[in-house]
Amino acid sequence: MRLSGKRVLVLGASSGLGKASAIEIAREGAQVCVAARRTDRLAETVGEADGEVVALACDVTNEADCNRVIEEAVSSLGGLDAVVYAPGISTFGPIEEIRSEDWHSVLATNLIGVSLILNAAIEHLNVTRGRFVVISSITIDDSPPRPFQATYVVSKRALEALVEAWQGEHRQVAFTSIACGDTLSEFGHDQDMQKMIPIVQKWNTLEYLYGRMMEPVAIAEQVVNALAARETIRRIAITPSYPDKEDEALDYGEAAVEINRDKGAQ
Ligand SMILES: NC(=O)c1ccc[n+]([C@@H]2O[C@H](COP(=O)([O-])OP(=O)(O)OC[C@H]3O[C@@H](n4cnc5c(N)ncnc54)[C@H](OP(=O)(O)O)[C@@H]3O)[C@@H](O)[C@H]2O)c1
Repeated sequence: MRLSGKRVLVLGASSGLGKASAIEIAREGAQVCVAARRTDRLAETVGEADGEVVALACDVTNEADCNRVIEEAVSSLGGLDAVVYAPGISTFGPIEEIRSEDWHSVLATNLIGVSLILNAAIEHLNVTRGRFVVISSITIDDSPPRPFQATYVVSKRALEALVEAWQGEHRQVAFTSIACGDTLSEFGHDQDMQKMIPIVQKWNTLEYLYGRMMEPVAIAEQVVNALAARETIRRIAITPSYPDKEDEALDYGEAAVEINRDKGAQ
């Protein structure tokens, strides 16, 4: 087991990539705390993971919550060797229609929360020469990026810059950004399906998509690799492999969006 003896907090572990990462990290022998807002869904993560995983409520847009979750994780685990930051949200629609509150909530969740968590965690990570992993996105590698996700792309570009800034000031800690392609999860499930289908089809027409979506475990394996690495892994980028045959590619119509809603919520 590659993470025996490590004490890890996974934020955003109530669904999707954070949940899969927490399960893989626990499978590799680490002691794990999981955090998110939906404590009923955290209980499911705890039930599916090996060992004694502890669930902690936390809204990363709330500074007091960020301080408390680090205090509780350190007290429960007896120290902190690594933090995985998975919380992420997006708006979907034309850039000129994004309202002030949308910018604020996406940046608070995807970017500022990272720094609030680090403000509280850094003294503990400096003691252990620990690790900090964030989940970024391959959307920031496209130029120009896919349309209708401006808040998201801006927040993830800023996220990778923020992590570099932290690395510059805290060289004892290993910071990693894992930029992921489209993966089955609950991402975007709060949106109306009829609104999402033309947006996703537009991305497909412009050839931003790969014809497949990854399983969350594909990202979780890379999170484990970053945590277990001998040296500092600065950045990992993962895209889906293209389908074997062209006729097996997703058409990104209603059926594909439904598959994501069904399988992504498992
Ligand atoms: N799925 C993809 O295709 C894809 C691709 C590239 C990158 N990513 C990134 O992967 C990360 C995980 O997303 P996902 O795809 O797994 O989506 P997801 O299934 O919707 O999971 C999002 C997680 O973030 C948590 N979260 C959201 N707002 C929060 C807040 N204010 N405080 C604490 N936790 C919060 C959610 O928990 P609660 O709602 O319970 O708080 C949930 O556990 C995100 O950073 C996303 O940008 C996803």
